[in-house]
Amino acid sequence: MNKLVIYLGMAVVSIFLFSSFKMDPSAETNSSGDPLVIPENINAILQKSCYGCHNTNSKGEKSKAKLNLDELPTLKKSKLAPKLHKIAEVLEEGKMPPEKFAQKFPEKVPTDEEKKALMDWAGSAASSLMEK
Ligand code: HEC
Repeated sequence: MNKLVIYLGMAVVSIFLFSSFKMDPSAETNSSGDPLVIPENINAILQKSCYGCHNTNSKGEKSKAKLNLDELPTLKKSKLAPKLHKIAEVLEEGKMPPEKFAQKFPEKVPTDEEKKALMDWAGSAASSLMEK
């Protein structure tokens, strides 16, 4: 089986999942806990600033291995919580998006407000996972 076919299939499924979250507002109050529901405003920032490198079809093996946003909602709690913490951490430290990318695509750099929204979301999503 061609790996690319599998990757493409996974991408299609994730796109479908992402868009169905958006269409169903009740999905935002997901009491069962999984899978992770990314609010629309947060998803928009992730798409703009992070998704280009951190997706299943990314050419960057390293960025993909460290964080694959396509897979994020499907990760097990034990893997998801540390990832969310990492997201908050790299934003806090100003490590992401990488400097070179930021210079090349200044319009894709999250604003201070967007950064704060991402950090707050990642932090609170991680803590609510821990409580469950
Ligand atoms: C231009 C490509 C690019 C963009 C855009 C980008 N990243 Fe990354 N990211 C990378 C690469 C490359 C690595 C691996 C760095 C390394 O290990 O040295 C990485 C690593 C990470 C890691 C793992 C860090 C660790 O130490 O485990 C996280 C979390 C992360 N990125 C989050 C983000 C977030 C959040 C955004 C958007 C605000 C973002 N990235 C945007 C390329 C990118």
